[in-house]
Amino acid sequence: MPSLSQVYKDQPLTLPNPIMDLTRMEKVPDSHAWPPLEDYLDDVPSKDGIIPVISLSEPKLAVMNQVSRACKTWGMFQVVNHGIPMRLFAELESLGHQLFGLPMEQKLKALRAPDSISGYGVARISPFFDKMMWNEGFTVVGSPLEHARRLMPDNYDRFCAVIEEYETEMKHFAERLMELILSSLGLRKDDVEWAKNGFEHTNGVLQMNSYPMCPQPTTAMGLAAHTDSSVMTLLYQTSIAGLQVMKDGHWITVPPIPGAMVINLGDLLHILSNACFTAPLHRALVSQTHHRLSFAYFWGPPADTNVFPHPRLLSLNNPPLYQSITWHDYLKLKAKLFNKALPSLLLPGTA
Ligand code: OGA
Ligand code: NI
Repeated sequence: MPSLSQVYKDQPLTLPNPIMDLTRMEKVPDSHAWPPLEDYLDDVPSKDGIIPVISLSEPKLAVMNQVSRACKTWGMFQVVNHGIPMRLFAELESLGHQLFGLPMEQKLKALRAPDSISGYGVARISPFFDKMMWNEGFTVVGSPLEHARRLMPDNYDRFCAVIEEYETEMKHFAERLMELILSSLGLRKDDVEWAKNGFEHTNGVLQMNSYPMCPQPTTAMGLAAHTDSSVMTLLYQTSIAGLQVMKDGHWITVPPIPGAMVINLGDLLHILSNACFTAPLHRALVSQTHHRLSFAYFWGPPADTNVFPHPRLLSLNNPPLYQSITWHDYLKLKAKLFNKALPSLLLPGTA
């Protein structure tokens, strides 16, 4: 049975080597200089509205309606009153600062191998761009023990305990959200093969992102525009603004709300909903005054289970738009085709 960890085994990703230490730069080097941003972290243009904030403490029907609207129009929303302890966010953030604050030679001890999904490295979408991004990351699938031991010989047990607690919280939260999202499509858990048995064998990948302070933030790019390859991504973006989502041709800044989780729908939910739900383009910008961290939990089905437009959503007027694909194969396709991966799955006659 293929697992997510095997995604890059037969298709290694060649990423730039060595990784540049961005923490002590006086100027953005040419390798990292993007065309200047004219709309750097602008205020939200009012006609596009603001990204929905949904409180889970409201009655279920109200929540479902808000989720449905948000999934159709934005593909992104923030959730408050979710019950995840604030203490955990604070601990995660503090360990993130410890990890990314280590000297480069130490971080390189946990370097992500080209054929592997986990470890320290640059953004996975880097090969698709001429310029490098102002970003470093650490990816965890399951236990980070092996890498954590090398990174933090004196503190790895604490690091692992916090990461594993956070992964457990995210898994439960993703399942709760998925039930809500399915009901907002008029579906039940039992209607989806990989949801019906308590989401057995579903997968999560935790991506810790670090965007060091940047001397010229308008010519740097934290993470270039992309859609996520997950069913959904649960993002804790800390208190520093940087995340933007594309809405009606404009980049809209997602304002940090203390303790809120940003929910971002991924390509697989776009397929499952037969394009009823949006998987939005988003990007991350960097700050001149703050080192920004974010924690993205990419959640999806068992690696080898097919995802396809749900038959209960289809009709003569709403024929299936996409071919069926597993998460494992979709990640491989994305690593090869990037933003052409989703269109490549369109069924003939629907383009
Ligand atoms: C990602 C992502 C946004 C952020 O990791 O896929 O979109 O704010 N991150 O770091
Ligand atoms: Ni993303």
